[in-house]
Amino acid sequence: MGQHQIIAAKSTLCLLLILSVSLTSAGRDYYDILSVPRGADEATIKRAYRKLAVKFHPDKVEGSAEEKKNAEIRFAEINAAYEALSDSEKRKIYDRHGEEGLKQHASGGGRGGGNPAGDIFSQFFGGAFGGGFFGGGGGEEEEQTPKGNDVYVELEVSLRDLYLGNSFKVVRDKSVIRPAKGKRKCNCKNKMVTRQVGPGMYQQYTTQECEDCQNVQLVREAQELVVTVDAGAADGQEIMIFEEGEPMVDGEAGDLKFVITSPPHRLFQRTGDDLRYNATITLMEALIGFTKEIEHLDGHKVALHSDGVTIPGEQHVIQGEGMPLKDDAHQHGSLHVTYTVLFPKKLDQKQKGLVKKLFETVHDEL
Ligand SMILES: *[C@@H]1O[C@H](CO)[C@@H](O)[C@H](O)[C@H]1NC(C)=O
Repeated sequence: MGQHQIIAAKSTLCLLLILSVSLTSAGRDYYDILSVPRGADEATIKRAYRKLAVKFHPDKVEGSAEEKKNAEIRFAEINAAYEALSDSEKRKIYDRHGEEGLKQHASGGGRGGGNPAGDIFSQFFGGAFGGGFFGGGGGEEEEQTPKGNDVYVELEVSLRDLYLGNSFKVVRDKSVIRPAKGKRKCNCKNKMVTRQVGPGMYQQYTTQECEDCQNVQLVREAQELVVTVDAGAADGQEIMIFEEGEPMVDGEAGDLKFVITSPPHRLFQRTGDDLRYNATITLMEALIGFTKEIEHLDGHKVALHSDGVTIPGEQHVIQGEGMPLKDDAHQHGSLHVTYTVLFPKKLDQKQKGLVKKLFETVHDEL
């Protein structure tokens, strides 16, 4: 009886651990994290995980403490994503109900799993990690796999979508490798052969040995991809989708890279994390001050205000109303508002008199 309770307590502890791991990655899409399309097959997910896990392994990343910290977060995300997507049951739940569904599944006492990040990594790499996995062997082998070309595609994203972040459905017509009739030579290797051609005489030569493989052909297929643009993404930034580039027979497909371009916005101009806006005020407002509102990219209102005199071309900086920062969408750059002053077209005699009276003494320094 007592023992039972201890076991139960242990498993709750374990569950809590899983929950906190997945909470850190809440809001991000597992497919995006692994840079694979939603329909990616198991092998692609595995290869994507392998590449990313090696790249972001905390022991591998060099740089400042902050870069290391970011890599650690990425590494945890990558592991959480792989844990969910590599298990067909969990993946089904995730596809249908998202992260919430997985959490419920885990707390419902399903097979739970709950591997801390490091465990998944060592399971995946068969415990070779630590024994010089990064030393060479494994890495070099990967270099030799022939790879198709990367494909670059422009993705036009409005400033508003860069401000808020958005997902886009993109239909892509791509070449895929499909089986065809007949056989072809493949996996050819050069082999050194020694042959005796007479007493005490040997001849060495190389031959090529190949296997017979199913013939293949390239066919065009339309495919729908979902591309997620994070809030704060920059013009020119690339969004990679793993192995969706040019296919390579007996090798790996290249990657597909969407390059963000954003057309000019009617009212806002972006420079880095900051936004610029031209506001027009009347001469009266320039002189006695004003309070007005402008509509930001997402529709929220920003107050413009002055108690004093505003000269034409004057710039006011409003902190926190610029673009969201790429690494932390809760923080924003600033908004630089430049004022244009609208002068009256002409004044009548009476107005001139009033203005004269008003300003006669203002510039007595001249
Ligand atoms: C503001 O006006 C200046 C001068 O006309 C122009 O060069 C600039 O591009 C404008 N900025 C915005 C954000 O529209």
